[in-house]
Amino acid sequence: MNSAASPFSESSPAPAAQVVILAAGKGTRMRSRLPKVLQPLAGRPLLGHVLDTAHALHDARCVVVVGHGAQQVREAFAQETQLRFCEQSPQLGTGHAVQQACPQLDDSGVVLVLYGDVPLVRAQTLQPLLDAAHAGALAVLTVRLAQPAGYGRIVRDAQGHVSRIVEHKDATPAELGIDEVNSGIIAAPAAALKRWVGQLRNDNAQGEYYLTDVVALARAEGLAVHGVPADDADELLGVNDRLQLAHLERVVQRRHAERLLRDGVTLLDPQRIDVRGELRCGHDVRIDVGCVFEGRVELADGVQVGPHCVLRDCSIGADSRIEAFSHIDGARCEAGARIGPYARLRPGTQLARDVHVGNFTEVKNSSLGEASKANHLSYVGDASVGARVNIGAGTITCNYDGAAKHRTVIEDDAFIGSDTQLVAPVRVGRGATLGAGTTLTRDAPAGELTVSRARQVSVAGWQRPRKQPSNPT
Ligand code: UD1
Ligand code: CA
Repeated sequence: MNSAASPFSESSPAPAAQVVILAAGKGTRMRSRLPKVLQPLAGRPLLGHVLDTAHALHDARCVVVVGHGAQQVREAFAQETQLRFCEQSPQLGTGHAVQQACPQLDDSGVVLVLYGDVPLVRAQTLQPLLDAAHAGALAVLTVRLAQPAGYGRIVRDAQGHVSRIVEHKDATPAELGIDEVNSGIIAAPAAALKRWVGQLRNDNAQGEYYLTDVVALARAEGLAVHGVPADDADELLGVNDRLQLAHLERVVQRRHAERLLRDGVTLLDPQRIDVRGELRCGHDVRIDVGCVFEGRVELADGVQVGPHCVLRDCSIGADSRIEAFSHIDGARCEAGARIGPYARLRPGTQLARDVHVGNFTEVKNSSLGEASKANHLSYVGDASVGARVNIGAGTITCNYDGAAKHRTVIEDDAFIGSDTQLVAPVRVGRGATLGAGTTLTRDAPAGELTVSRARQVSVAGWQRPRKQPSNPT
């Protein structure tokens, strides 16, 4: 039987799993203006990691319970149109939080409760909980911790069945000795969970409605409660302060590095790489130390990345070499590129095969044709550069007049002498040569030498002024 308020029942049958994500807490210990679930972990908000896990489950739909910074959290995920939110204000505990989500939950199927600040749990770890819930049981994901302080303890009966969960603050000294703790993550048949959270009371040490009390309610109804122990305690680590966040960052980065190594990538030091997004690599890619990858980065076969490079939202063609300290953002490079050291490629850069962009050269919103080179100290902005063009040291495209940007066109086989300014809009014809030091304000004809520098003169007999010896008085 579906409840009338359920958003899932109107157009489609209930999904295999309805996921409630608790994200209303304040996160006081982060000491931040940013709501805790928006704090970035590997470049993605904590809540984003939890959503990725939920989406990896077969046919799951999510309701996020927001409270502190609710508006900010909603806005951060506005593009996820499938996502539903509900507001919890004031925050009266984890059970109260689930109560707020109930009107959005279908009575059929199962509900999985995840925490917005427990970001590393994997879909494969959750599947046994969902299976138990589909079979009609309440399932609790548990973990054994050497230092269980602060966590809810799992109390099992003589037969080993979970009989209840007792919060640290409510526990007796004997219960505090239990090292199996509640991860907080549970799964249950939807109708039963909705019934139980409606029966919760707040007569406990914290005066809160504890979600954990559903265990005792399930047992009172004679229902099975499965405590499902997790293999990897790291997966259940929560984020309460920046120390824990920093620790989790290392765990995520280690996962990234291990995946890359398994995929055949050479990492000169697996501990010194940071992936804040998605890094895809072909065969025989080699990455030196201290590199940061953000957004979506693709490195084709045989790419080598030197130390301390930052690559964001870019694709690098086969056998290219990115030398040390280069910064690449929003660029597309075809095979055989030679970039850096100390090069900067900005959004809209497109490099054809075998292009060289050398030290202290910046390229923005420009295309360079096959085998063209800008090897030293240049700025190439809003330019279309043909093939086999040589851009001499210190060349500047003057693309901005203070109000608008203008394009520079340099045709195939042109040679741009050093220290040249190209005042856009301007065109350099095919095979043209610009003399060093030229300030080009009009188009340069194809095949000819254009030079704007003043003619050189030598003054015969000229004497450099000399200091007069001071008169002794
Ligand atoms: C909870 C569990 C505890 C478990 C621990 C694991 C309860 C009563 N206790 O305790 O057994 O060992 O997690 O980390 O469930 N939240 C809301 N609204 C609220 C309160 C909390 O959305 O009113 C959210 C928080 O944002 C957070 C999560 O629920 O994402 C957990 O809340 P927290 O206060 O950290 O619970 P713990 O006391 O750690
Ligand atoms: Ca907590």
